[in-house]
Amino acid sequence: MSSVAVFASGSGSNAENIVKYFEGRLFSADFHFLTNNKKAFVIERARKLNVKCTLFNREEFYNSDAIVEKLQDEGCELIVLAGFLWLVPENIINAFKGKIINIHPALLPKYGGKGMYGSKIHEAVVANGETETGITIHYVDENYDEGKIIHQVKCDVLPTDTAADVESKIHALEYKHYPEVVEKLLNI
Ligand code: GRF
Repeated sequence: MSSVAVFASGSGSNAENIVKYFEGRLFSADFHFLTNNKKAFVIERARKLNVKCTLFNREEFYNSDAIVEKLQDEGCELIVLAGFLWLVPENIINAFKGKIINIHPALLPKYGGKGMYGSKIHEAVVANGETETGITIHYVDENYDEGKIIHQVKCDVLPTDTAADVESKIHALEYKHYPEVVEKLLNI
């Protein structure tokens, strides 16, 4: 069975959706959620899903190999970032070269970079009068939102759309496409 680590800092609806996608499949995956935020709702989702969940602090993430060792020990094949807000340090990038992916709720390189996350993105998209937006699934490198793009999907932004409307369109795209990309990369 493939071993997949999912990092999330907040709600974790994408993390849950990916686990549910693989439930009941013949070739499934073994999931492990990791979070930097003790208040993150993803912890509650992990409990309900019966998925292992690890809480880590800044010291463990940036100044130790604790996470690399833990993930290597369990044979992690893919690291999936799903609403994870910390920049991934070099030791993790190097240990999992080409095996870390992220989803960004906009059409990168637009609306990317440090500080561009969550509803801020959708508010900016609406404020700028964009007529389309979308999702970007990409490999992760040492900079925010700059790794090689794997998959992009667009959706319309109507003149009447609020940031909340855009957010729900984006979530729908994420739920459809992120698990499919994970499955493809795992080759199962
Ligand atoms: C998603 O929109 C994702 O694209 C972005 O953060 C959001 C996380 O949402 N990186 P959730 O925690 O999965 O509900």
